[in-house]
Amino acid sequence: MTVAPSVQAKSFLAALDGTRQKTPPIWLMRQAGRYLPEYREIRSKAPSFLDFCYSPALATEATLQPIRRFGFDAAILFSDILVIPDALGQSVSFESGEGPRLKPIETSADLAALREAPDWSRLAPIFETVARARQSLPAETALIGFCGAPWTVASYMIAGRGTPDQAPARLLAYREPKLFAALIDRLVEASAAYLLRQIGAGAEAVQIFDSWSGVLPPAEFERWCVKPLQRIVAELRAESPAIPIIAFPRGAATQLGKFAGLTGLSAIGLDTAVEPRAAAALLPARLALQGNLDPLALVAGGRALDEAVARVLEGFEGRAHIFNLGHGIPPETPIAHVERLMALVRRPLG
Ligand code: CP3
Repeated sequence: MTVAPSVQAKSFLAALDGTRQKTPPIWLMRQAGRYLPEYREIRSKAPSFLDFCYSPALATEATLQPIRRFGFDAAILFSDILVIPDALGQSVSFESGEGPRLKPIETSADLAALREAPDWSRLAPIFETVARARQSLPAETALIGFCGAPWTVASYMIAGRGTPDQAPARLLAYREPKLFAALIDRLVEASAAYLLRQIGAGAEAVQIFDSWSGVLPPAEFERWCVKPLQRIVAELRAESPAIPIIAFPRGAATQLGKFAGLTGLSAIGLDTAVEPRAAAALLPARLALQGNLDPLALVAGGRALDEAVARVLEGFEGRAHIFNLGHGIPPETPIAHVERLMALVRRPLG
């Protein structure tokens, strides 16, 4: 008789299921990448960053590198949120050291020039990466798939680059709400289908990065962040009832409470500025909480790191907690500080 592997064997999935773990599971946003010498070494093997993401051999290796080095409880697919605009036919490139460059969407003609649905053949190598990574991971390590939230992805599609406040997308949403809503609709459908394909290939949980939700006022936050997220979650739930779903609404602050009624969500990722106990008060106990160490405390190390880690662990006492940063790991992070973090989080309770 074959015994199905227990979900509970992976502490990350058990926490997502709402069960507080004695030692919180830990992974770090952007845990693969430039702070790792072994990533920098293989990064030069692909001509461009997108070529790297579309190479199953390289992307699988990048997914596994942080697990081998640190033994995190979850691996995250190595890719980028901007593969969706790329697969919709928008021109996307990454200039080294300068971030993404896209041909901006400014008019309804620009939107009409995009594909209705992603070119799945373009994204096929990513699903291959998911399958390979899942096969290669240790039994106790879960695999996370991801996408960007419609608002965050749209903000890059409209500005054509990173901006301090996503003003171009906010202006377009005010000036051309129909055009903007049509873009969001397309991203809702593309993102849900994309995540379902990652789940089909072996992703055991998914995270939706809404890195720019914090720039929106309440009505726009509701319309462009909460509602599209609810639609994606509903589509995932309909096809894949048990898949754990994490939302990361960076900067949501007091609007976090708007996720309390979002049915089907498993966990919320909290950014650095959120007081864990305040989030716990706003969000029902069925939602696991993920976060929220300041990435700069990790860069600084020493006493600042030790104290910050202790405060995060304390802050989430009594909740199902997944240890993470409040945003991505900075490239200048010393490896030794990540090792120290792992030792602190995994320290046997006295
Ligand atoms: O978490 C992981 O380790 C998985 C890989 C991952 C990347 N990007 C790899 C990457 C994930 C989950 C992302 C998400 C992502 N990408 C977000 C949401 C999370 C966040 O950080 O807010 C956003 C907004 C993007 C868009 C993006 N991609 C930007 C703005 C940049 C340039 C800034 C930067 O960090 O360089 C990227 C490039 C990118 N994505 C790199 C990596 C490793 C660096 C490119 C390189 O290594 O050459």
